[in-house]
Amino acid sequence: MSVQKMSKRITAPEITDRKGGAPIVALTSYHAHTAAIADKYVDFILVGDSLGMVMHGFDSTLPVPLDLMILHGRAVMRGAKQALVVVDMPFGSYEESHAQAFRNAARVMKETECGAIKVEGGKRMADTIHFLTERGIPVMAHIGLTPQFINVFGGFKTQGRTRDKWAAIEEDAKAVADAGAFAVVLEAIVEPLAKKITKSLAIPTIGIGASAACDGQILVMEDMLGLSPRVPKFVKEFGEVGKAIEKAISAYADEVRARTFPLSENTYEMKD
Ligand code: KIV
Repeated sequence: MSVQKMSKRITAPEITDRKGGAPIVALTSYHAHTAAIADKYVDFILVGDSLGMVMHGFDSTLPVPLDLMILHGRAVMRGAKQALVVVDMPFGSYEESHAQAFRNAARVMKETECGAIKVEGGKRMADTIHFLTERGIPVMAHIGLTPQFINVFGGFKTQGRTRDKWAAIEEDAKAVADAGAFAVVLEAIVEPLAKKITKSLAIPTIGIGASAACDGQILVMEDMLGLSPRVPKFVKEFGEVGKAIEKAISAYADEVRARTFPLSENTYEMKD
């Protein structure tokens, strides 16, 4: 087979091979510009359906349509050239049947050219994960606090707080690994349980609010940048981007009102 262009992009199997090795670094991104920056430092970028809450102002991820995920997935693929790009399957786009899941996941893969998709759910989604991986679609699983289940959980709550809840989460982890998921996100799981699951699985665990015991970490980029108005307690804000944006916008508004911007000799040529 002849090849028109060789991609050096990280693949899903390469992420699986990192099990137990150097920690896997991941962030969400929804746009070409932030993806291009993250691409220099992370192993994979998740186009998370959190975009519904973070940048479109919804109260949950449930209203996010598939077309929106595809639009943002394409933007991220244009910005990132090395990282594996994983696109979230939104609520209602994969749960109904294997056929529905394949049809929509194949659309995401074709239209964005991303390297993998992510679905939420453990045992209940294991058959679907198997169906998709057997048909050429690498799947990242997501268990613990699965935001698309928010109405069943009754809120964004840490999972496995009491030992009697551990077995079900451990069964979810085993089910998605046995089904062929190449990695699994553990969201909001207590540390000893995250440690136990990470030890027991042959695929990498990617933690978000699930302790440093996981094989890798992911955060919502806007949360770690200091751009989100409210963040969960486990999030470390590595920047103050919200404050920097406000400072720049208020300085711009002041200059426009004072007629000190724009300078009359400005041209539209690009700066060096
Ligand atoms: O949608 C998302 O951003 C996610 C991460 C929080 C893992 O699923």
